[in-house]
Amino acid sequence: MDVTMAVLLALVLGLLVVKFALFQPRNPNSPPCISGWIPWLGAAFQFGKAPLEFIEQARVKYGPIFTVFALGNRFTFVTEEEGIEAFFTSKDTDFEQAVQQTVQRTTSVPAEIFYRNHSRLYSTMKGKMGTSSLYLFAGTLCQELHEHMDCLGTAGTENLSDLIRSVMYPATVNILFGKGVCPTNKSDIKEFEEHFQKYDEGFEYGSQMPEYFMRNWSKSKKWLLKVFEKVVSDAERASPSDSDSKTLLQHLLDNLHGKHLAPNYALLLLWASQANAMPVAFWTLAFILSHPSVYKNIMEDVGSVFGKAGKENIEISEDDLKKLLLIKWCTLEAIRLRSPGAITKKVVNPIKIQTFTIPAGDMLMLSPYWVHRNPKYFPDPETFRPDRWKEANLEKNAFLDGFVAFGGGKHQCPGRWLAIMEVHMLVILFLYKYEFILLDPVPKESLLHLVGTQQPVGACRVQYKLRQ
Ligand code: HEM
Repeated sequence: MDVTMAVLLALVLGLLVVKFALFQPRNPNSPPCISGWIPWLGAAFQFGKAPLEFIEQARVKYGPIFTVFALGNRFTFVTEEEGIEAFFTSKDTDFEQAVQQTVQRTTSVPAEIFYRNHSRLYSTMKGKMGTSSLYLFAGTLCQELHEHMDCLGTAGTENLSDLIRSVMYPATVNILFGKGVCPTNKSDIKEFEEHFQKYDEGFEYGSQMPEYFMRNWSKSKKWLLKVFEKVVSDAERASPSDSDSKTLLQHLLDNLHGKHLAPNYALLLLWASQANAMPVAFWTLAFILSHPSVYKNIMEDVGSVFGKAGKENIEISEDDLKKLLLIKWCTLEAIRLRSPGAITKKVVNPIKIQTFTIPAGDMLMLSPYWVHRNPKYFPDPETFRPDRWKEANLEKNAFLDGFVAFGGGKHQCPGRWLAIMEVHMLVILFLYKYEFILLDPVPKESLLHLVGTQQPVGACRVQYKLRQ
């Protein structure tokens, strides 16, 4: 045996001994654990390469509850009823502890300030974006969408994601932060958007790795934080005394401890609002345009509410939204099919699920993407079938059973109703104003990220022209 072989063999044996010594199962009732054979790294490579496929393969191989050991952490996935129930209702899990490190790494908000602020800011957002106050945004949102759609001109060919971003980004920013507070005009926006896109693309890795390894991402983050210093100071200066006239940002500033971190929170709010809603708008339009019978029915509905296309700047009332239910179903169906890869809670006391005990310290994981592919909840799960939403009691703001794209329980996404309304309005206005032809097939979803809704792989061009 040559020296290299001997060294390799010794290394492998050494690693196995360390693994054996350090990684004995902590509890014989723990779920099956996929731990790889490299100490600390565990199954990080296999998991990181294609996380969503890895989760599904592990479920098939190990059953509905399993643990993945990676980067020194245990991630325990629950995929079926009892586990899902425990994920959303158990008092032995903690949301804040699960997301604190992500918030710290992506926005530089230290743990102490995060814990101090979280529940107050969450209640503020829940109140301001809840269904009863949402319609305060509706008129302005509609105006904003019109204004930015006017820049698209009478016809063109464009990547659908870019087309949506150019309208939705400035409109959302203006309604959340106040008009003119963030860069939204054409010349300033380009640089801002480039940095924001880099920040968004690196968000997931940035949440797991020290900033040192993410130099470009870190540069964009710092650039954005600098811009947000001005955004925040303008918002503070212009804050009206009457509560109804305040923007969401101004409400958050009123409730924030540690004012010097306001730019960091503003960045987090911008990310949370854009990173999910823009891909959802893309998928909703792409699915509608690629399903001719759905597209035709939607155009008949739109025509029956607003008359023949061509009128300038229609206003959309709450009543109009209710009449255009098929577009809302398409939005929810697009969210179902392209929902976040995983959401997480930290286990703070051991939890018993089925025959297993999940030890304290584990990250409890649930994949909305895969739950939405369970035929028990969603028959024919891979098919875009907006009419399945007929069964949901949307009048009472209830989704379908098994729909967990926005999380659930105490920490559900506070922006969910705003996101649905934004996409609903954007689709109405786009389809009323323009005729679209898809020039490329609808792309596949990337399946590479656990955080946030799924992104399209590659471009999808559309041709659009004003309806006559
Ligand atoms: C379709 C679009 C959206 C999806 C799929 C989505 C999904 C989610 C999910 C899964 C969570 C975590 C919930 C949990 O872990 O239990 C979350 C949290 C959050 N979302 Fe959304 N979201 C969307 C749009 C928005 C919008 C438009 C806003 C703001 C305007 C927003 C603001 C937030 C915030 C601030 C949190 C953190 C809540 C907390 O700290 O407790 N989201 N969202």
